Amino acid sequence: MEALESLLSRASCPVLADPAPDGAALERILAAAASAPDHGRLRPWRFLLVRGAARGRLGEVLAAAFRRREPEAPEALASKERQKPLRAPLIVVVAAAQREAAKVPAIEQIAAAAAAAENLLLAAHALGFGGMWRTGWPAYDVGVKAALGLAPSDSVVGFLYLGTPGQALPPRAEPKVADFVSEWHG
Ligand SMILES: Cc1cc2nc3c(=O)[nH]c(=O)nc-3n(C[C@H](O)[C@H](O)[C@H](O)COP(=O)(O)O)c2cc1C
Repeated sequence: MEALESLLSRASCPVLADPAPDGAALERILAAAASAPDHGRLRPWRFLLVRGAARGRLGEVLAAAFRRREPEAPEALASKERQKPLRAPLIVVVAAAQREAAKVPAIEQIAAAAAAAENLLLAAHALGFGGMWRTGWPAYDVGVKAALGLAPSDSVVGFLYLGTPGQALPPRAEPKVADFVSEWHG
């Protein structure tokens, strides 16, 4: 797909089925992610692949973390958390492992990881796969981060759900750039 067309036609796919990208396609997608701009070449991004049975284990991690946060909540809500990672055949957790000592501010390291996440989604889309960027409370929960092998100071910038679009994407209206672009004249 032509680059600009790919950029303009990307849309979130809430319904994702098998197959997920793997093998050479997944390598290309991850290489595209790691080609994002990155101040100081710190490579602050980390990509954790969660697929197959590991999705169920991530669901258990989410349900347990939810229980710690909401001990009185009905079981149905914990169960909902448990099911979340099963919404797609592959989840790529994109995190920024910030280097405190680096001269590059933390927000710029997070911005680089977010740029990597968007590159990843665009590359997946260009190869015919679908994706959806999700966060929610699990992205900020220290227990979830620990279970993923991340430090409390690391930032989860997204849980990228990936697979094959399970439904046709609605046609996308091009954004009205005039709504958020203005000329600065000094
Ligand atoms: C940092 C970030 C976090 C997001 N988290 C969620 C989320 O937890 N749940 C959700 O439904 N959408 C979330 N979204 C929004 C969707 O991924 C999507 O971008 C949005 O619904 C707009 O649709 P589009 O991607 O088709 O333009 C998030 C987007 C970003 C950039």
